[in-house]
Amino acid sequence: MAEFNIALIPGDGIGPEIVSGAVTVLDAVSKKYGHKFNYQEVYMGGCAIDKYGVPLPQETVDICKKSDSVLLGAVGGPKWDSQPSENRPEKGLLGIRKALELYSNLRPSILKPQLKDASPLKDEKLEKGLNVMVVRELTGGIYFGERKKAEDGSWASDTEKYSVEEIKRIGKIAFETAMLRDKRVVSVDKANVLESSRLWRKTMIELSADYPEVELTHMYVDNAAMQLAINPAQFDVIVTSNIFGDILSDLSSAIAGSIGMLPSASLGATKCGMYEPIHGSAPDIAGMDIANPIATIVSAAMMLEMSFGLVEEAKAINDAVDKVLDQNYRTTDIMSDGMKKVGCKEMAKLIAENI
Ligand code: IPM
Ligand code: MN
Repeated sequence: MAEFNIALIPGDGIGPEIVSGAVTVLDAVSKKYGHKFNYQEVYMGGCAIDKYGVPLPQETVDICKKSDSVLLGAVGGPKWDSQPSENRPEKGLLGIRKALELYSNLRPSILKPQLKDASPLKDEKLEKGLNVMVVRELTGGIYFGERKKAEDGSWASDTEKYSVEEIKRIGKIAFETAMLRDKRVVSVDKANVLESSRLWRKTMIELSADYPEVELTHMYVDNAAMQLAINPAQFDVIVTSNIFGDILSDLSSAIAGSIGMLPSASLGATKCGMYEPIHGSAPDIAGMDIANPIATIVSAAMMLEMSFGLVEEAKAINDAVDKVLDQNYRTTDIMSDGMKKVGCKEMAKLIAENI
């Protein structure tokens, strides 16, 4: 029996529904294994702008820092589109990543056999499956580089900047992740054009000397996108910058069937990680009980394993998800002929019952 403090950030749009689904499943885990999960809900994103006037109140940062881990739904929506750029909901997300120093973002994409039909790729492209871990740098690059705009609105610029230290620490995570998998790392950059990418590539090559068992190769980002679409099985670990990782992880998730399935873990210097689905707040379907809670539920499983060391409990969640899919239950986004359509709440309940 162990006790953990979890900060919950439901956020905006479908965020509250999917986080509540994950809590249903976590409660089933705590009941079965005798752990105690203490939840504390905090505001971030658009709902925080509405309540406090800012997307990331200090109180939220403080509570997250004190907790053992953070579970996040999603933030943002058209309601806050007219906010000035420094006060958008997304600023809250970037701010919490920075405040918790979560420089490493792990985004696994695995094609489940049950979801082959939900993938946009033809069967022949999926024969060898897909099991890729995108290791995305999360607190640097163009997301955090200097921004400028002309007062008269005639130009604007953002800066992609990486230090050797920043590249090294994310590279280490990628190599160590690969050591536990198939020992292959593809470093994705745009070294034919960008100076920051040339430094990225050089640093990865130097770092690879410490991991002689891991095969390191390089791909330009445009080619990597194409390769993911035409031969997704070739990848084991992809390591890349903040923006390239953002783009490639959406692509890899779509190939795996639906962006509604994929979890992510954001980790840093401490054990306190932040776990979130890789999809957004889907404001168009918010409150309709049709969102897919699985990405958030399996994010909670990643939290149990990576931050709490509860390996068996994490497996119980992933197995329960598989069982429910095997029983042909599907949310709208992964629905196909002959399957049984269920809502967000019902899907979470079914998974909880299978723990
Ligand atoms: C993600 C999201 C965020 C990002 C947005 C909401 C700021 O797309 O987590 O992938 O770009 O990092
Ligand atoms: Mn994204």
